[in-house]
Amino acid sequence: MAVKILVIHGPNLNLLGRREPDVYGQITLPQINERLQELAENLGVELKTIQSNSEGGIVSFIGENADWADGIVINPAAYTHTSVAIRDAIAAVGLPTVELHLSNVFEREEFRHFSYISPVATGVICGFGSDSYTLALEAIVGEINRSAKNQP
Ligand code: DQA
Repeated sequence: MAVKILVIHGPNLNLLGRREPDVYGQITLPQINERLQELAENLGVELKTIQSNSEGGIVSFIGENADWADGIVINPAAYTHTSVAIRDAIAAVGLPTVELHLSNVFEREEFRHFSYISPVATGVICGFGSDSYTLALEAIVGEINRSAKNQP
């Protein structure tokens, strides 16, 4: 059975392409999703993708798909720095999770240096533009496959 991954895009990522292109690049969200879909097909994994500007929408999506998914790839966007609710949802479902950011949050404003999500993530990728997404998908699939092999 194919490995199944939730791909979650947080607030304002629907505006990629026109949003601060000097920081986030020219690529649009549909283009990122297309790249992820191509990679997923190559890796033989299935994706379920959401973009939401609402914290509750993201929390509900995680909970509703807890039994379907084997792992989570999430760019929580601004909720990275504010959301206990999304952190709790990830901790609650207990799925391996990769947090990613297009920009290098550590070279930006200080409020972006703190993440509520990182302590409950398996790992974090940031600063590689849209490649952060493909790196995150490769990382989560590698993680899931490795832990499946270690099962008795
Ligand atoms: C972001 C970084 C966050 O600080 C910011 O609020 C975003 C995007 C990134 O992908 O670089 O919306 O998550």
